[in-house]
Amino acid sequence: MSTLSAPIPKIYEKAADFMPLNGTDYLELYVGNAKQAAHFYKSAFGFKSLAYAGLETGVKDRESYVVVQDKIRLVLTTPLRSGTKIGQHIDRHGDGVKVIGLWVDDATRAYNEAIKRGAKSYMEPVTEKDEHGKVVRSGIYTYGETVHIFVERNDYNGIFLPGYKQWKTHYNPEPVGLKYVDHMVGNVELGKMNEWVNFYENVMGFTQILSFDDKDISTEYTALMSKVMSNGNGRIKFPINEPAEGLKKSQIDEYLEFYEGPGVQHIAVATDNIIETVTQLRDRGIEFLRVPGTYYDSLIDRVGEIDEDLEPLRELGILVDRDDEGYLLQIFTKPVNPRPTLFFEIIQRKGATSFGKGNFKALFEAIEREQELRGTL
Ligand code: FE2
Repeated sequence: MSTLSAPIPKIYEKAADFMPLNGTDYLELYVGNAKQAAHFYKSAFGFKSLAYAGLETGVKDRESYVVVQDKIRLVLTTPLRSGTKIGQHIDRHGDGVKVIGLWVDDATRAYNEAIKRGAKSYMEPVTEKDEHGKVVRSGIYTYGETVHIFVERNDYNGIFLPGYKQWKTHYNPEPVGLKYVDHMVGNVELGKMNEWVNFYENVMGFTQILSFDDKDISTEYTALMSKVMSNGNGRIKFPINEPAEGLKKSQIDEYLEFYEGPGVQHIAVATDNIIETVTQLRDRGIEFLRVPGTYYDSLIDRVGEIDEDLEPLRELGILVDRDDEGYLLQIFTKPVNPRPTLFFEIIQRKGATSFGKGNFKALFEAIEREQELRGTL
């Protein structure tokens, strides 16, 4: 099954590539209740049932539900007993992203290249087979307890992975237009950003394409720094954030406190029609961060003419930013867990290849208002 195919901007073509990545294969979240989480991602986010592994497939210690929307696959996994590594992960971090699966042509080679360059092993290459063919997977650690699993599936035509069976259900709501993972952001501790930038450069062959410092991203109270890493063909983009000194506790500090360490802060998913997608998501109960209405008063002065009508953007709270190549529309959900940790970004790119720097200030002030309510600012 083919996966991600984000448009590939010209700037990436020259990047060195000893580790070719075809795209995001799947994201696995360790969660307290995979069955109910799967229902949430279906009913609220428009995913469909895809695959299942658990007692009925001979797996004794866990249950995994896989949901899909276009090229995005989420695996939701819960342990079935106490005292498991998955359970410890959930106890420490709450629900969160454990695996960022990367689709490769050769999972053994990707693993060897990474290990040779200093990666910490999570899983040596394993070949799994069933009547639909074979899949080779291998894994390395990235920040915190998060891991990258390389997935080689060119000789496989099953529903998801060997060991999974098709998850059939009569309830599959209409999709909301989410297409593929545009980028995934990691939060790391103060002083650790460059360590992980170096990891992605040296171990994974990524290139730094953007950087923001505390002068770009600061409000009256809080600041953060961010560098954006991209793989050779531009299909995988990982911004890395670290907190910067501020008057009060930043959103990154809050994340690190509640996740109890570094981890995935947000998953940005692309749509071709953000107004339609966000309308659907809101109707299904997804809550978004709101910027003040005044944001829209000067919007056209800031970003120039855009194709969309201003009124639905204002009504839904969708943000707009422009770079040299075009513009983008984006909006951020509130955290999807009880802990203020993981959230989603919905993004529509109209030429722009950047990440909405012009929105950071308005956005962070909105986040701070939420932090204030939580008493964590
Ligand atoms: Fe983002």
